[in-house]
Amino acid sequence: MDERNLNPVHQDPNYEPECNISDNRTFGSILEARLARRGVLKGGLAAAVAGIFGGAALTGCGGSSSSGSTVGAEGGNGGADLIGFRAVPIGEGDSIVVPEGYSTKAIGAWGDPILANNGNFPEFSLNNTGADQAAQIGSHHDGLHYFPIEDSSEDGLLVLNHEYIEPRYMHQAAQGQAFGRGTFPINDDNTRETDQVLREMNAHGVSIYRVRKDAAGEWARIPGDAFNRRITALTPMELSGPVRGSDYVKTKYSPAGTETRGTLNNCAHGVTPWNTYLMSEENWAGYFVNTERTVAQSRYGVRASGTTRYAWEQAESGEEQYTRFNVTPTGTTATDDFRNEPNCFGWMVEVDPYNTSYKPVKRTALGRFAHEGVVFAPAVEGQPVVCYSGDDARFEYIYKFVSAQPYHAATAGGHLLDSGTLYVAQFDEDGSGQWLPLVFGLGALTPANGFTSQADVLVRTRESADAVGATKMDRAEWGAVHPTTREVYFALTNNTRRTEADTANPRVDNRWGHIIRWQEGNESGTATSFSWDIFLLCGPQDDSEFNQAGLDEDQKFVNPDGLWFDADARLWIQTDIGEGSQNQREFAEFGNNQMLAADPANGVLRRFLTGPVGQEITGVITTPDQRTMFMNVQHPGATTTPEAFAAGNFNSSWPFGGNNIPRSATVVITKDDGGKIGS
Ligand code: FEO
Ligand code: CA
Ligand code: CA
Ligand code: CA
Repeated sequence: MDERNLNPVHQDPNYEPECNISDNRTFGSILEARLARRGVLKGGLAAAVAGIFGGAALTGCGGSSSSGSTVGAEGGNGGADLIGFRAVPIGEGDSIVVPEGYSTKAIGAWGDPILANNGNFPEFSLNNTGADQAAQIGSHHDGLHYFPIEDSSEDGLLVLNHEYIEPRYMHQAAQGQAFGRGTFPINDDNTRETDQVLREMNAHGVSIYRVRKDAAGEWARIPGDAFNRRITALTPMELSGPVRGSDYVKTKYSPAGTETRGTLNNCAHGVTPWNTYLMSEENWAGYFVNTERTVAQSRYGVRASGTTRYAWEQAESGEEQYTRFNVTPTGTTATDDFRNEPNCFGWMVEVDPYNTSYKPVKRTALGRFAHEGVVFAPAVEGQPVVCYSGDDARFEYIYKFVSAQPYHAATAGGHLLDSGTLYVAQFDEDGSGQWLPLVFGLGALTPANGFTSQADVLVRTRESADAVGATKMDRAEWGAVHPTTREVYFALTNNTRRTEADTANPRVDNRWGHIIRWQEGNESGTATSFSWDIFLLCGPQDDSEFNQAGLDEDQKFVNPDGLWFDADARLWIQTDIGEGSQNQREFAEFGNNQMLAADPANGVLRRFLTGPVGQEITGVITTPDQRTMFMNVQHPGATTTPEAFAAGNFNSSWPFGGNNIPRSATVVITKDDGGKIGS
């Protein structure tokens, strides 16, 4: 074994390939004009928000439960005090910190068994096999939902995504070596041990498992429950929608182009109005290499040389389930090899967690890109289904899907996601915006411009969006739809490569991030125009012209990622300061990654939680009664340096403490008085 860092750029777990070479406006001039018009650069955030959404101004004073700092208010809330907790300070310790009156407990860590393997429930070990991992919860927890059993708030299914892995914490062979966070063991002959690869693939995907509150009020997972299931990078899946059966997805595995194997890099999620789960495929491109890379593949960041992200294609056994990640053509036609394998990834994938035999379905009508996740507007009987999804890479776009068929609760199902219109957002400087349809034959999407079918438009979603003139954004992460006003909020996490500001992405070198929001032009969300505004700018509390965040000590945060509205319209905001920046340089004052809650109705914003060392906070949901919150901690200890790793000095041992390997885990949060979380 030797340590290899085959491509340092690609070892970055936050690797977001920048592939957009279109000349679409970066919006710099647009926002500058808009902010100037609204006096933002002079009057701060409050002035910005008061623009089209109206309402209260930004005020300071954090920490109290009866008065507090406010941001981005959009109107009165009748005096109700939605955010009732006292803010916690910035955190730097290796633990979870929540407000007084709240308690936390980690359940469901990576490697905890949920299924049996050969009659046993395999506990976590550095010597676990690939088969053990298929019976255990995956790694790098991300999007998360609670599906109640018979509407219960004390008995349900947790369904969560596993975005990626940190191989050095997985394998005995890595211990004692100066491995960085993306480094994996490799043999002298450049092959990888097959079972290590299998274990890594089985640590990807989705976990579904039963959780229940016992008589003493303690939540626990139920290993071996009949609903428990693992979906991995190997699970057979259907393709549906316009791309199904097209030449773009015909492979040796599925000559008919109707099936594929596995899902990759599942970041955030979505929950359909018919109560199924959608897993996203975000940074899947780096798992593929093609030494004869096509233009279409380069637009997504498929590698042109070297190995893939974890070199799975170099598994010793040479089985096709591994070699398929090298998609360089070897055969005469596409059904002789895996040249089309990357076209089978980049989708939103549906599964019904209540049906253990449901074969996951990749819904191609929702487009192919680095899907952060998807969020649905509340369904309206008789109206089309509307959902939103961001493409999280620098200078990529935000999309909306509107189903062709109307929603009827009695008959709703995944078929509604198979036909409809995919739109991409254009943000105009006057605060209006347009949804530009990505429909073959419409506008620029014609044979004269190289587009040949709707399947082609969808497989090349990014190029289609380039062609219609979409607005390049600062890395769209999670979206959230306000449960009553239906305003849509999206986190734009950062973009340090931006050199031209615009009104929707108002900072050059945007290292802090911001949150944008819009209101559709009609009530059902099917309109092709909208009004938009900036909800808040993240950053330190200073008043420089660049910053204008105006967030106080109880509020300040950067790099928003997870967003979720609870039923009372608290907006939960989660942060993902990258591993290369956490607790360093100008990021040091923000400490470890955190979660905050905001009430957009009165502008109150307060820090609710800080996490352990090296992690990001991502994924949040409550039970229907809002008395239990589940939240994910991803990649604790990821900031351990190679030298410290070699010495066994991991900078986190969360959640088990002592000398334990740090492990991603789901956290249960309860309020000691039994009240609603956040109240
Ligand atoms: Fe996986 Fe865009 O965060
Ligand atoms: Ca991340
Ligand atoms: Ca994310
Ligand atoms: Ca992120």
